[in-house]
Amino acid sequence: MQDLSANPKFISIEGISRRYPKSGGGTTTIFEDLWFSMRKGEFACVIGHSGCGKTTVLNILNGLDAPDDGAAIVDGRAIEGPSLDRAVIFQGHSLLPWRTVLGNVAYAVAARHRDWPRAKVQAHAMAFIEKVGLKGSELKKPSELSGGMKQRVGIARALSIEPKMMLMDEPFSALDALTRGTLQDEVRRICLETGQTAFMITHDVDEAIYLADRIVLMTNGPQAMVAEIVENPLPRNRVRTEIHHHPDYYAIRNHLIDFLVFRSKTFKDAIPAGYDRRHPPVVRPAASGSTAPSGSRAA
Ligand SMILES: Nc1ncnc2c1ncn2[C@@H]1O[C@H](COP(=O)(O)OP(=O)(O)OP(=O)(O)O)[C@@H](O)[C@H]1O
Ligand SMILES: [Mg+2]
Repeated sequence: MQDLSANPKFISIEGISRRYPKSGGGTTTIFEDLWFSMRKGEFACVIGHSGCGKTTVLNILNGLDAPDDGAAIVDGRAIEGPSLDRAVIFQGHSLLPWRTVLGNVAYAVAARHRDWPRAKVQAHAMAFIEKVGLKGSELKKPSELSGGMKQRVGIARALSIEPKMMLMDEPFSALDALTRGTLQDEVRRICLETGQTAFMITHDVDEAIYLADRIVLMTNGPQAMVAEIVENPLPRNRVRTEIHHHPDYYAIRNHLIDFLVFRSKTFKDAIPAGYDRRHPPVVRPAASGSTAPSGSRAA
C-alpha cells in the first residue's frame, strides 16, 4: 500500500482562476484562487453542482485549458499542454471505432514508448486488457462491446501508459448500477495496486466515499471556491458492498449531501471566520460527531 505521507505536493493547484468574456462585454469568473494539492498515490474526488467549473479544473490539469491566474504543477513541473504523463478517462469512451480492443490500447502504448518493438507493445497492452477483465475480447471492435466493456477499454488504455496522474470526468455516470459498481471496484483495486494518483469528478456521493481518500467540495459558480476538503474516515481497505455498515458512513454521507443541498449555495454569503483560500478547512466527519474542522490544514 502507498505511503501517503510522502511528497505532499506531487500535484499542486496553486491559486488558479478561470474567466470567460461575457457576450455583452465584461468577464465572468468561473472560479477564483483555487488551491489544492495531492500526494503521490492519493485518490481525490471533486464534488460540486453543475457549472461550478469541475471539468475546467480537470482540463487545466490535463493541459487542454490554461488558468488565467495561478498554476497547476505535476511532480515539480508546471503543466504547459497535454502530455502522456497524464491520462484521462472521459464519460464517453472515445475509442477508435476501426481498431480492435488490443489496437486501441496498443495505440496508446506505442505513442508512449516509441522505441518499443511491436511484440513488446502488444504484450504490455494485453497485460492491461487482462487487468480490466477483457482477456478474450481483445480482437473485438468497439461496436461489438457493451457500454461497460467500452469503458473498460478506456480504463485499460489510460492505465497502460502508466501516467503520473489519472484524470476522470464522471467516467461511470452513463453506466447501469451493476456495471458501475464492478468498474469502481476495478479502478480502486488497480489504483491501490499500482500506486496510481487519481483525480475524479463525480456527482455520486457514494462513489466518492468508496473511492476517495479526500473529497474537494466546490461551491456553486460563478466565482466558485473550494469550501472544504473532506477527509474520508473509512478505512483504506474498505469494501464497496459493506461501507454502509461502517459507523462513520452516515456521518460522511450526510456531510456531503448537506453541502450539496445547502452549503454549496450559501457558503459564499457567509464565509467562516478565518477561512483561507490557500488552506481550506479540513473536515473528517465521524459518528462521534467530531465533524468540526480538524485544525489541520489542507496540504
Ligand atoms: N469556452 C467557454 N466559454 C464560455 N464559458 C464557458 C466555456 N467553457 C465553459 N464555460 C462555462 O464555465 C462554467 C464551468 O463549466 P464546466 O464544464 O467546468 O462545469 P462543470 O462543473 O464541469 O459542470 P457539469 O457538472 O455540468 O459537468 C460553466 O458555466 C460553463 O458555461
Ligand atoms: Mg463537467
